[in-house]
This record gives sequence, structure tokens and C-alpha cells, in this order.
Amino acid sequence: MKNFVFMVIAFCAMIAMTANAQSQKGTGKILIAYFTMPESSGVDAVSGASRVVVDGKVIGNVEFVANCIQRATGGDMFAIRTIQTYPGEHQPLLETARNELKANARPQLAARIPDLRNYDTIFLGYPIWWYDLPMPLYSFLDEYNFAGKTIIPFTVHGGVRFSGTIEKIIALEPQAAVSKEGLAVSRNNVIRSELDVITWLRGLGMIH
Ligand SMILES: Cc1cc2nc3c(=O)[nH]c(=O)nc-3n(C[C@H](O)[C@H](O)[C@H](O)COP(=O)(O)O)c2cc1C
Repeated sequence: MKNFVFMVIAFCAMIAMTANAQSQKGTGKILIAYFTMPESSGVDAVSGASRVVVDGKVIGNVEFVANCIQRATGGDMFAIRTIQTYPGEHQPLLETARNELKANARPQLAARIPDLRNYDTIFLGYPIWWYDLPMPLYSFLDEYNFAGKTIIPFTVHGGVRFSGTIEKIIALEPQAAVSKEGLAVSRNNVIRSELDVITWLRGLGMIH
């Protein structure tokens, strides 16, 4: 009887360990860190605005792609947010972002990654703002040292693709392995991008 109980417990433990291994697909532990700024004006991504409506909820374009990566990889999500709020309307947002870029600002971030040591691979997502990284991304890259980790960039843009931002990440994180095989999604294709995301992740060997 004792042996039987022991075998049942061992079997359950084996199932639990397998399930846990499967929930973390790909290589090493994954974090999906992203910055996104859904606009309050415009209709949704179909009309070219920086927002998508999913199940009645408004989310940013980059968050949409981040969610696709999360579903496929089982990674943890981390939203890069600032203490200050950005204007929701397109024109004031453009102006605020341009002023921040001109001032080489480092907007203060509202939250920290609970424990970076937990992660080997960081998917880093952001919109292109004025042909560059949004300034909160500079704050984020200043704040953490990603030495020894792999950074895989992804972006949603209005036409300029990465616009040299991968090289900027490489310069700011010289001790990280920054992938040049990032994914650039046009904002016009966001809502149809999930298959592209999966194909890209397979190509990277992150999922099977
Ligand atoms: C302030 C601002 C500046 C932008 N600058 C550019 C740009 O220089 N080139 C480009 O292709 N798209 C540009 N865009 C378009 C955004 O990259 C695009 O709308 C992106 O999908 C926004 O992602 P989000 O909804 O996750 O914030 C800009 C958008 C904003 C709001």
C-alpha cells in the first residue's frame, strides 16, 4: 500500500514538472517588456491610430504584439510606464514626444522589474517616436544592466521600421546579446500580425 501511495505521488510530481516545463517554452526564462501609448483620438488600428480594440478594451499597438508573444512563449509581461502621463490626443502627444527628444529627457519610470535575475531573454517592445526610441526606453535602458542576457527587440511603426533603434539598444547595452532579427510590424497590420509573430518566433528558435 505504502509503495502504491509513493508511486501515485511520484507520478503526480512528474506530471506537474512536465506541465511547468511546457508553460515556459523556448530557451530560458522570458520577459516581455514593452512601452505602449494608446491614443484616445482616432477609431482603432484599422484607421491608422495608435490603438487597437480587443474585446471592447482599448490597448496600444505594441501591447497587442506583446500579448501575441506572451501567448506563444508563456513569458512574463512587464509594462514600462512613466510617472508622468502622456497626452491621449495625437497632436499634443507628438509635441510632447518631440520636446522630450529635443531635451534628451529621461522620464521617471513608475515600476521596476521585480527581479531581473529571473530572466535570460528579454523581448523589448516599443513604438517608433520621431524616428527614435521613445525617451522612456532610454530611461529603461539606463536603469538596468542587461549584461549576459539576450534582448530581442520588436516595434510597431508608421512606416520607418526600426529606424536605427536596434543599433541604439546595442550601444546602450554593450554587454547584452542584442538580436538584429527583431520584428517590425506596420501599425496598419497590427491586428493581422499574430501569424507573423509566430513565424518570427519559430525562426528565432524560441518556439517549436
Ligand atoms: C509621438 C509619436 C511619434 C511617432 N513618430 C513616428 C515616426 O517617426 N515614424 C514612424 O514610422 N511612426 C511614428 N509614429 C507612429 C507610431 O510608431 C505607431 O503609431 C505605433 O504603432 C504606436 O504604438 P503604440 O500604440 O503601442 O503606442 C509616431 C507616433 C507617435 C505617437
